[in-house]
Formats: sequence, structure tokens, C-alpha cells
Amino acid sequence: MTTPLTSLKALSLSGSARIPGDKSISHRALMFGALAVGESTVHGLLEGEDVLRTADAMRALGAKIIRDDDGVWHLWGRGVGGLTEPADVLDMGNSGTGARLLMGLVSSYPFSTFFTGDASLRSRPMRRVTDPLSKMGAQFFTRAEGRLPALVVGAKIPLPIEYETPVASAQVKSAILLAGLNTPGITTVIEREATRDHTELMLTGFGATVISENLPGGGRRISLHGHPELKGRTVVVPADPSSAAFPAVAGLLVDGSHIRLPAVGMNPLRTGLFTTLKEMGADITFENERIEAGELVADLVIKGSDLKGVDVPPERAPSMIDEYPILAIAAACATGTTRMLGVGELRVKESDRLGAMARGLTACGVKIEEDHDALIVHGTGKPPKGGVTIAANLDHRIAMSFLVLGLVSAQPMTIDDASSIDTSFPKFKDLMNGLGAKIQGHGV
Ligand code: S3P
Repeated sequence: MTTPLTSLKALSLSGSARIPGDKSISHRALMFGALAVGESTVHGLLEGEDVLRTADAMRALGAKIIRDDDGVWHLWGRGVGGLTEPADVLDMGNSGTGARLLMGLVSSYPFSTFFTGDASLRSRPMRRVTDPLSKMGAQFFTRAEGRLPALVVGAKIPLPIEYETPVASAQVKSAILLAGLNTPGITTVIEREATRDHTELMLTGFGATVISENLPGGGRRISLHGHPELKGRTVVVPADPSSAAFPAVAGLLVDGSHIRLPAVGMNPLRTGLFTTLKEMGADITFENERIEAGELVADLVIKGSDLKGVDVPPERAPSMIDEYPILAIAAACATGTTRMLGVGELRVKESDRLGAMARGLTACGVKIEEDHDALIVHGTGKPPKGGVTIAANLDHRIAMSFLVLGLVSAQPMTIDDASSIDTSFPKFKDLMNGLGAKIQGHGV
């Protein structure tokens, strides 16, 4: 079923809003809880479609997982080495993280797992994980170019590897480390640019030995000792900074706004957008910085601001990889030029995000230059005219970005099908409207 949504000019945004749980951390909490011995509890799990697919997949692999009436999730894991062959295809929906991490996890189990997903996931490159996982002894039978659906035949005797990732990707790093869990010896991943380290932090919290060394130039060398005994624990999931990005940019762009977003995850490998927005002149403050269950969090206070264009350096990309679409919206309303460089990875996300932002903003009257790995946005200091219907192409972040634009553009913005927003940000429309936005469903 398609769900068109339209956003209209808002007067000002105000109030406080609790952003849903972090998607990356939620996936990992379910996976590791399902591998631990004893009970784990997860508070604040993102109950978006992507994460719910991972919960189903972990049940299919043998874990017991329930949600209680207070919204707390309880898991009874199988222990590392204890997963069992799923009786049916694992349909990971729209989720690259779910698919890639689980392809890694099952690679070191001596059974067969079939994976599929929606049209977006079935078009995404998987060789980035199947290449290193093949070296560990797993076999893959895929469509052309390594695409899903895929059959993974796990290694009977998995081999530890040392592997340098050719792209900066936490998903690739994590897929290899997860395969390393049921592999004897030490599995090592070298990344030339540090990517989000939730896998390393959370596995350590569950009792694994993970050694992470900083390399000159900003990279890391991460080694995992195989066959750890993971022990059940409590995980408190912080609010997702990648989701907070949408109301945060809306608050900056809509004149006279003043909003508060409590307990947002502030892992330094995730906060590149906030660094960039501050450089653009954004009035964002981080209050009550604290550690909650091992993760740095802060309350974000955002006030309407006049933004100016900046250059975003390529080395910042891993720490804001999912935030470029909404940054492009901020840039379109800023004074001057914003250059986003070294962002070719955006072409292989849930959709080709570089192409989608370039096309959509051009249609809205913004001057854009697009290269294979760069996006240059020429802002005039005024919101663009808007009045366009955008094809979301199963991409939640494209849908939310253009809905934010509609809060300031002269004419309303419409998204042809906003149903993908449920993958990462259930109740996005209600939360935004609670702050004073005007986002309307068909006939509402
Ligand atoms: C994620 C890593 C990133 C990000 C995705 C979540 C993760 O992907 O885009 O939304 O949870 O590890 P890449 O590792 O492919 O850059």
C-alpha cells in the first residue's frame, strides 16, 4: 500500500520530542542477545520495520525473543555456536544492516541460510561482504553482481582472516567480526577510516574480547577473539542521532523555532552532521552530556538559525553517512555554496541518494552540481520554491528529507509513498506535527 504525504509551510516549531531508538544499536542488541547465554533485556529498542525483521530472523535462528507490555524486549540466547538452521528464507525487508550483518553471522555455522529483501535491498551490492566471508570458508550463491536473493552455505571449519576493508563500512566490518564469533583464533579487520563502533562496544559489553587500535591517519585495526562466551545483559538504546537529524534541521530552518530532543546518542563516530551544522552557523547546544548504559548521550536544544554554506571534507563522511540527504536540504536553504565531497557511497544506499537529492532539489528550483562522488548545492539564503512530488523509491531518508523541506518551501512538498519511513522512524509524521509541523496524509 502506498502512503503519500504532503508537508506545508510551518509557522515555528516548539516543544520536546523523544526520538525513537538507534537503528544500528537496536539490530546489534537483538543479534548479540540471541547469541548470549542467559537473559538479556533491551530498553528503548527501535520498533521500526528493519529491526523487527532482525528480531524475526534471530527467532528463526533459534533464539527466544518476546516484547513485554511495557515495551521492554527480553531475549534468551543460544550461546555462540548454538544457532540452528532457519526453516525458511530470511526476508530482511529494506535493511542492508540486517542482511549484511546476518550474512556474516551465519557464515561460520555449518548450515544453509537463504536471504532476500525488498526491491531496494535486492538491488544493493553484497560482494563487499561475500568476498571477505568467502575467505573465511563460507559459500555464496547469489544473483548477478552478488545481489540478493542469496544462499549462504556456512563454513564447516571457519578460518579466521585479517582483512582490510576496501570501502569505509561499519556493515562490512561488522559482518566479518560477527563471522569471527564462531571461528577459532583471532579475526582482524583493518579500516582506513574509522566507522561507527557499536559492534565493538556492544560485543565487549556482552563479554567478548575485542581489541581496537588506532592507526595513523584515523583508521583502526580491530581484532576479535573467537568463541567468546557472551553473557546476557541489559541494553539501553539511546535515541538515534540519524533520526534526530530530521527534526533538528527542521528546527533550524523554520524561523523562530525552539525545540528539545532528549537523550540523543552522541557517539563521536555518528555526530558529523552536528559538527557540520555548527560550522554552518546552527544554534544547537548539547545539554546534560552523560553516559547512559555505556553510550554517550546528550539533550539537543535547537533554535531557528540563518545558515551559511560550507565545505564538508571527505574524511567526515563515515560519521554522517546517513545524514547527507537532510544536510542537502539545509544547504539548499543556506546562504552560499555547500560542497559535499567523497560521498560516492550514497549511490548504493537504500536508493541512489546523490541522484535523488540532485534531481529533487533541481526540480524545486535549487542550483545543483552532481559528480560521481560529490554533491554541490548553491543556496540563496531563501527556501526554494518547492511544489514538487518526489518519488521516495523505498528510501526513508529521502522521504523525510523532502518532507522537512516542505515545512519552509514556498509551495508544499509531496512524497509519493512515505511508507518506507516506518523502517527507521515510526510515527515520524505525528512527532513532527507535535512540534508544530504540518505534514498531512492523503485526505487528512
Ligand atoms: C550502518 C552502517 C552504515 C549506515 C547504515 C547503518 C550500521 O552503512 O549507512 O544505515 O548499522 O552498521 P555502511 O556500513 O554500509 O556505510
